[in-house]
Amino acid sequence: MSDKRILVTSALPYANGPLHLGHLAGAYLTADLYVRYKRLTGADVVYICGSDEHGVPITIAAEKEGVSPQDIVDRFHEMNKKVFEDFGISFDYYGRTSSKVHHETSQEIFLNLHEKGFFKKKTEHQLYDPKADMFLPDRYVKGTCPNCGFEEAYGDQCEKCGTSLSPTELIDPVSALTGEKPELKETEHWYMPLGDKQADLEKWLDTRENWKPNVMGQVKSWLHDGLADRAATRDLSWGVPVPLDEAKGKVLYVWFDAPIGYISATKEWAQETGKPDAWKDYWQDENTELYHFIGKDNIVFHCIMFPIVLMENGGYVLPKNVPANEFLNLEGKKLSTSRGWAVWLHEYLEDFEPDLLRYALGTTLPESKDSDFSWKDFQARVNNELAAVLGNFVFRALSFTSKFADSKVPELKDPTQTDLDALKAIADQKEKVTSAYENFRFKEAINESINLARVGNKYFTETEPWKTRKDNPQACNNSLYVSLQICAALAVLMEPVLPTSMKKLRGQLGLDEGLTWNDISDSMLNSGTDINPGDVLFTKVEDDEIDAQIRKLEERAEASNPAPKFPALKDNIEFGDFMKLDLRAGEILAAEKIEKSDKLLKLQVNLGIEKRTIVSGIAKHVDLDTLKGQKVCVVANLAPKKLMGVESQGMILMAEDSEGNLKFAETTAEPGSPIT
Ligand code: MF3
Ligand code: ZN
Repeated sequence: MSDKRILVTSALPYANGPLHLGHLAGAYLTADLYVRYKRLTGADVVYICGSDEHGVPITIAAEKEGVSPQDIVDRFHEMNKKVFEDFGISFDYYGRTSSKVHHETSQEIFLNLHEKGFFKKKTEHQLYDPKADMFLPDRYVKGTCPNCGFEEAYGDQCEKCGTSLSPTELIDPVSALTGEKPELKETEHWYMPLGDKQADLEKWLDTRENWKPNVMGQVKSWLHDGLADRAATRDLSWGVPVPLDEAKGKVLYVWFDAPIGYISATKEWAQETGKPDAWKDYWQDENTELYHFIGKDNIVFHCIMFPIVLMENGGYVLPKNVPANEFLNLEGKKLSTSRGWAVWLHEYLEDFEPDLLRYALGTTLPESKDSDFSWKDFQARVNNELAAVLGNFVFRALSFTSKFADSKVPELKDPTQTDLDALKAIADQKEKVTSAYENFRFKEAINESINLARVGNKYFTETEPWKTRKDNPQACNNSLYVSLQICAALAVLMEPVLPTSMKKLRGQLGLDEGLTWNDISDSMLNSGTDINPGDVLFTKVEDDEIDAQIRKLEERAEASNPAPKFPALKDNIEFGDFMKLDLRAGEILAAEKIEKSDKLLKLQVNLGIEKRTIVSGIAKHVDLDTLKGQKVCVVANLAPKKLMGVESQGMILMAEDSEGNLKFAETTAEPGSPIT
């Protein structure tokens, strides 16, 4: 039992939509692995998360649906809380930043910093929508991208070319709320002078050990560029009100209040557990180890801004480590909820068990660089590893024991070197897994865990208990004894990643519920203990299940990005190229079908100066009887060409609509008139 207290947080997800694979891979699965591992070692761990319910992402979601921000956060708070539970993400408390405790806590910290003279008040000019009577957040300004000309660029970013923008850079900006042209209007904001605190921050960062290079690298690059002041207040109506009379109508910047949500949620956890002061043990005792689990887009806030706020405020623990993950791609493409390229967690659960995804994602985590999730890889992980290695090994050991050893753990007598080597693998793998977890190397922890099942499988195959059963019963008993000890070790070793299935396995082995990490050894089961084999732990995922998932993904993406109604424009041509065309007004004089063709018509066309025979592939699109007198545009200088034995001396211009129907490009001009 470690005497240190451990506080683990996962980034508070915005309650503006459902959660997807990328969320799980970024900040939640890794934290849960760590927490479950630490709890098993007997550590005093509190694991905190909750909904981030403020900021523009929430108001945009509300705007889109035409409901209030409160409606949005109420809905997604409950939904996200439940899906985390269903995936076994074992928070001690899941709070929300709209709570009273949170409003009070963040206002208190703001006021305290204000009294210490931390903030710099600045007057500035910001875009304002006179019709909506409000200042416009960057996202609420739309206009033409100065970089690529895309007309629907946002004030913070052009989604077409990816350039990050400021709203005043947009060409012809309009308010996304009313379509009005925004005006610049004066406003005041309270800025955090991050640059002034850079030296203090750097001193603290120098004392951090064992940070992942991808995290420290990003932090260093921010510091290298120099920290800019950042406003802690916003002109918005949704958020925590700024607790100053002179700041009426303003709210705290969401990135100022949200991280304080970790503290508020810990306070609420303490109240709920009946020890209202217990939160202080985790936030105000310098022996507490604080770990923030986040995705890489949150690094600057957790490693720079929030530590500066806490340092300035004083009295709070700063993070010992921030093991941020990189991004997860999906089927080789960037995840995008707006483009429908995402796997929603609640939908996943309609089709598969949570443990399968925990394992498949856990072995593909974007720990030090971006990684890719694919359904085929998911299937391979489940079938080739969970089912064929772990499940198969456990099933062989248990079913053999039930059939040939009276469902009891046999005795180990006169073990061979092979038996002893297999038993020793338990301690070896435990050591590797422990060290991997301690160093936030979760993929390695999981791979080294299942490697023990690989050892077990190989051992079982090599010692052939189905053969020794007849001529050397003790050798058979030894095989089963060793295999069952390995199963028992696996039940604890793999519990962090496979909580549901390993609980089942514990039951099958009759293992004490209280067994912990420290109990993992080569003698966890006493001889004579009853075992109760059940169903196989994992069944294979079939090809058609995977095909269905891929199809669903593609259909969703197509629905979010329907094919454009009309084809894209062709490349520009020179004026001279255009002038080579001789286009003329014409009039159809007569029309007849061409035999053996259901497409082609033979037309006689009056071109003013002469009469032409033109073969045209429009039979399916026009009514033969109404063609006489039809005014048309003709390409008059197209080289003649024989079609079905008839020489065509030109081409009739037709327009094709989005359904492929052809209509005449008509003209009212006198036949023979050049079209230029
Ligand atoms: N809601 C933010 C996001 O999804 C994360 C907030 S983390 C916190 O990117 F620290 F601010 F809570
Ligand atoms: Zn652009």
